[in-house]
Amino acid sequence: MGHVVKCFECGKEIEDKFADSCPRCGGVLTVDLDLAEAKRTSLSKLRRRPIGAWRYAEFLPIDRKKAVTLKEGGTPLYDCRALAKQVGVDKLYVKYEGANPTGSFKDRGMTVGVTRALELGCRVVGCASTGNTSASLAAYAAKADMRCVVLLPSGKVALGKLAQALFYGAKVISVEGNFDDALAVVKELAHSGQLYLLNSVNPFRPEGQKTIGFEIADQLNLKLPDKIVVPVGNAANIWAVYKGLCEWQRLGWIDHIPQMIGVQASGSNPVARAFEAHREDFDAVQNPETVATAIRIGNPASGKKALRAIYDTDGHVTDVTDEEILAAQVQLGRIECVGVEPASAAAIAGLVKLRRKGIIQPSDRVACVCTGNVLKDPDTVIKNSAGVVKSKADAESVRRLIAS
Ligand code: F0G
Repeated sequence: MGHVVKCFECGKEIEDKFADSCPRCGGVLTVDLDLAEAKRTSLSKLRRRPIGAWRYAEFLPIDRKKAVTLKEGGTPLYDCRALAKQVGVDKLYVKYEGANPTGSFKDRGMTVGVTRALELGCRVVGCASTGNTSASLAAYAAKADMRCVVLLPSGKVALGKLAQALFYGAKVISVEGNFDDALAVVKELAHSGQLYLLNSVNPFRPEGQKTIGFEIADQLNLKLPDKIVVPVGNAANIWAVYKGLCEWQRLGWIDHIPQMIGVQASGSNPVARAFEAHREDFDAVQNPETVATAIRIGNPASGKKALRAIYDTDGHVTDVTDEEILAAQVQLGRIECVGVEPASAAAIAGLVKLRRKGIIQPSDRVACVCTGNVLKDPDTVIKNSAGVVKSKADAESVRRLIAS
């Protein structure tokens, strides 16, 4: 697939296949895709293939014949009528990314990123991660028979994610510090040739994640929602969804892009603060904190990309408290029976807040991207639940407990 890697900020073409930022201005990188092959096809032709990330191969900058895949994507788009009614919007769709092979949307980025690593002949891949990226990379690296090294912030990674990284055989290193510290270290390792970096600063990762937007449009028969709500951490995913839809707009497959709405946790909210101040750039938040550990990031590498997606679509970005996140997680789980982790519930909490503030209207059709599975973080679920009741092993004791 024809493509050029460019600096997102100054537009410089990047020759170095291992670069993770612009050598001229330090900007984050992006893939400029040649859409000639895509122009020769149509959505109805693509629909003859099974739904999933590879249905849209013409939009992925790698050779599909070499794909390292676990059949990612093709996740359900739930029409959440009861919750829509409760929140007060016309339509609420939940794109349930927890149904991916390792339980998060990261798999869409990793199928492309690890295939790229294979094309480049890399033997060792690595990342810093709040958990999901490491779980996903560990699985795809194992599939491609590569070594995998993951750097995790000490003590703040949800149990399910940690278990997955270990299970798939990654070298798991707990770094004293937060995600931002771990990312700085792993970049240094990549620069000295120790490993191929597969954080979302690698521009091939967002290329795979574009398929979230493709699937939403595809599953709604191109009757696009008015707003797409995405939780924001390192800030590449909201940009990825936007970028993909821009490519479909360039081909004339869709005539507009929905408003992109980002949601951050209030203890880790640099992008929301920048938006509040009408700025195109952001200041890092020191010592980020939130129950939504997946998005516990103070210095988002793709923050400027996220802001661009939001401003270009006349969108919005807000922040929500831990209490709002946990309440939304339970609300989605109990009313629609969709189990998501706290970072994903932030999207629902953001919807509730923006509906209350009148930024989301009663007539709006909204799609929330719920990025990860509830089982990723069992500790938070158990802590936030009624708890377990102990009983003697006889029916009468249990009967009494049920009645009480
Ligand atoms: N939701 C979940 C469940 C995530 O794991 C992440 C990011 C996001 C949302 C935010 O996406 O970073 O593109 O803005 N997790 C990364 C990780 C940072 O290491 O797993 P983003």
